[in-house]
Amino acid sequence: MPRHLVSIADLDAAEIVRILDHGDRYWALASEPVKKLTSLRGRTVINLFFEASTRTRTSFELAAKRLSAEAINISSAASSISKGETLLDTAENLEAMSPDVIVVRHSFGGAAAMLAGKVSCAVVNAGDGQHEHPTQALLDAATIRRLKGKPAPGALEGTRERDPEASAVLTGAGPRDATRGGVNGPALPVQRGRERPLSIDGVEVAIVGDIAHSRVARSNILCLAKLGARIRLVAPLTLIPRGIELIGGDVTRERVRIVTRLEDGLDGVDVVMMLRIQHERFEGEAPRFPNTRELSRTFGLSERTLGFAKPDAIVMHPGPINRGVELAPQVADGPRAVILQQVSWGVAIRMAVLERAVIGFDGRPESAAA
Ligand code: CP
Repeated sequence: MPRHLVSIADLDAAEIVRILDHGDRYWALASEPVKKLTSLRGRTVINLFFEASTRTRTSFELAAKRLSAEAINISSAASSISKGETLLDTAENLEAMSPDVIVVRHSFGGAAAMLAGKVSCAVVNAGDGQHEHPTQALLDAATIRRLKGKPAPGALEGTRERDPEASAVLTGAGPRDATRGGVNGPALPVQRGRERPLSIDGVEVAIVGDIAHSRVARSNILCLAKLGARIRLVAPLTLIPRGIELIGGDVTRERVRIVTRLEDGLDGVDVVMMLRIQHERFEGEAPRFPNTRELSRTFGLSERTLGFAKPDAIVMHPGPINRGVELAPQVADGPRAVILQQVSWGVAIRMAVLERAVIGFDGRPESAAA
């Protein structure tokens, strides 16, 4: 069976941790002069993007290439979709060329699940409408775990067996880590791969902004709650879907709180995750706030409002940033922002996700495992 990644809702906490642990193995690879491994040599990854993307598309391509897979990029403008071909017909035609993975981004929430039910190769969701963006949540969890994680209960340094393959790539702190501030993040202790597993249980995370239209928010709520974090959704009520705190059942009901005043939402949090207003998804809707300037004034993150969070709180954003709207430039470029670290984690986590999809974490190809 192909190992799809359609939704965080399909993963339990143990599987999420397995992906994060696997991503840890690749974190430092970006600092190596030669950034190439061979685990997916001869395999084919098709990136099928029907929406604009900078970070996700590029990092999936890099991830595939760093594992020695062939990566092929297809955008809607350059495909026969522009001539009227359906998504399913496109996918079936691509499948006829025997790829191992199709990575898909589409404005239709459910596009990845639809493909996964139709094709025989693995399907990875790179963002589907307002539904989910699972690899974004995984890379966000990896960033939080490294910067805000605490040793998991019962885990003492060195208690885990050292992984020889991990040791080969964990020769440094990673591309954007402990030594530099600014957009590279504050000076913080380094987790050395699998030697010392960290947990984000109890970490307080505020997700601020346009929750209503955000697939990043939905995936993060599920992912972070499954890992034991406590989440505040901070926005005017018109930007928070009714019942969103129940999307993961008891797990999210117990850990998600809705807060409609920014200062209260940020009070004492470890992590502030800002979201942009997704204007492209407002079409045909009644206005949800008077205007962007007013929303920015009441829910934008400035140096002043960041002062309500813990003094060592980190600032995250999935990108693209709208400077001066949800995030003041001084904060975006300030010492607490870890936004580019998130981007670096994107490559490591997507390497893990592609390996999981094609050969699984036991390293055996699907056919050998059957
Ligand atoms: N975070 C994110 O999905 O960015 P892109 O739209 O650039 O891929």
